Amino acid sequence: MTVYVPRDSSARSVGADDVADALTGLGVDVVRNGSRGMFWLEPFVEVDTPSGRVGYGPVAAADVPGLLAAGMPDGGAHPLRVGLVDDVPWLARQNRITFARMGVVDPLSPDDYEAHGGLAGLRRALSLSPAEVVEEVTESGLRGRGGAGFPAGIKWKTVLGCDGPLKFVCANADEGDSGTFADRMMLEGDPFALIEGMTIAAHAVGATEGYVYIRSEYPDAVATFRTAIDLASSRGWLGTGILGSSLDFQLHVRVGAGAYICGEETSMLESLEGKRGMVRAKPPIPAIEGLFGRPTVVNNVLTLATVPAILASGAAAYRKLGMERSRGTQVFQLGGNVARGGIVETAFGLTLGELVHDYGGGSRSGRPVRAVQVGGPLGAYVPTSQFGLPLEYESFAAAGAMLGHGGVVVFDDTVDMASQARFAFEFCAEESCGKCTPCRVGAVRGVEVIDRIRTGEDREKNLVLLEDLCVLMTDGSLCAMGGLTPMPVRSALNHFAEDFEPPAPGPV
Ligand code: NAI
Ligand code: SF4
Repeated sequence: MTVYVPRDSSARSVGADDVADALTGLGVDVVRNGSRGMFWLEPFVEVDTPSGRVGYGPVAAADVPGLLAAGMPDGGAHPLRVGLVDDVPWLARQNRITFARMGVVDPLSPDDYEAHGGLAGLRRALSLSPAEVVEEVTESGLRGRGGAGFPAGIKWKTVLGCDGPLKFVCANADEGDSGTFADRMMLEGDPFALIEGMTIAAHAVGATEGYVYIRSEYPDAVATFRTAIDLASSRGWLGTGILGSSLDFQLHVRVGAGAYICGEETSMLESLEGKRGMVRAKPPIPAIEGLFGRPTVVNNVLTLATVPAILASGAAAYRKLGMERSRGTQVFQLGGNVARGGIVETAFGLTLGELVHDYGGGSRSGRPVRAVQVGGPLGAYVPTSQFGLPLEYESFAAAGAMLGHGGVVVFDDTVDMASQARFAFEFCAEESCGKCTPCRVGAVRGVEVIDRIRTGEDREKNLVLLEDLCVLMTDGSLCAMGGLTPMPVRSALNHFAEDFEPPAPGPV
């Protein structure tokens, strides 16, 4: 009997290691897989059966003897048994492409990876010319999953079109947005997918070196990914003459030092070059002058990890999913005050309400949901009256919001939206790189103005000043950090104006 216990850090944080130890202590053969992304069931234990995997969760180490006594996996009566994993409605309704192997395979087993479709994309890519690979990625409609949604194929074409012997592929794994965790799960749960995607990108643009920039807050991801690189190299999936071809590609890991701004691509490049993470003015864009001044593909982890599936199944299959200019699937990360948090990978077009209520089950507190912040700390607070919005780039942009990296954080009716707006400025003041004045000074002034509005001091004057500041930061900031900070502030003001009223005077 093979039993799976996740090694994903979300599962480890709630006792998965103890569960694995308890099982091995009783002679059970344990494989450490990634997480399925059903966090309310972690640690989620799965058992191989002839009809498929049977799941149990959330399992504590103390539950293990009871599970075995109940005849796991046949212990149908055990209260923790959720049945066949593939039939769990949360999973069955999803369309997992980027996360197809997540929780299924042992992340550090190259054999498991190949047995579950791994390398099919790279093998096909190597049979195509670089320009054909770029064309396939362009045709698929894949857009950057880091947040900006720039078409990946067009970025790759720019790099392919540059001359020069040295080009780079960099994966941005500085996943700093609060409420996001999909990059981390990919690094920990299916690292070979990122390696394969980066190798395909290297072939497509003519790069020979790659870097994965991982935030220091992800020690498990760093360790797992480094091991995965060693394993891939020993199999000839990295290095020289990859899979018997003429492709040479070396891959390295670099660890950040805790600055949110290093998720901005040019800051990340500065940091990779050993300098302080400061934003560079664009142009030149990194595709033309990137790492060490060379043409560089900078893509988010999810963008690159999706490429193998696109090459394996063809651009048309991927493009068929989604709506309008948002093609394929998005890996939404559902968190905050929500009953069932975790990963929901579906085709673009699902409504926000379906995500929060049908998947998330509403708030964890049981109180009414009041607002949802979509797209990280720089994203808008969306009220329930807009829950009909389809989750796709253009609909969100038209509503003054953004999808960003797919983080969705739920708040119930106890939230104070003026505090949330203040937090946006505080966050910006804390994380600003300091290069440009609208952001460096504007964020600090923003906190002060909101404080004055909340106490009722010169209220009307300060509301005008706040709008002025938002316009200045949006138009005058060098990068998205300062440029997007007004988004959560304005959305809080527009949709929840009552929270900005001064407190009622007390009894005289
Ligand atoms: P951007 O719109 O300036 O650029 C998007 C990408 O397209 C960049 O890689 C840029 O170099 C590239 N690009 C633009 N024109 C190009 C061309 N002609 N050829 C080739 N490449 C070209 O957006 P930016 O500033 O890179 O990202 C802002 C986004 O980052 C925000 O929308 C936000 O959602 C997201 N974000 C994500 C975070 C995370 O943790 N993942 C954290 C903070 C923000
Ligand atoms: Fe730096 Fe902020 Fe200016 Fe971006 S907007 S360059 S983070 S000071």
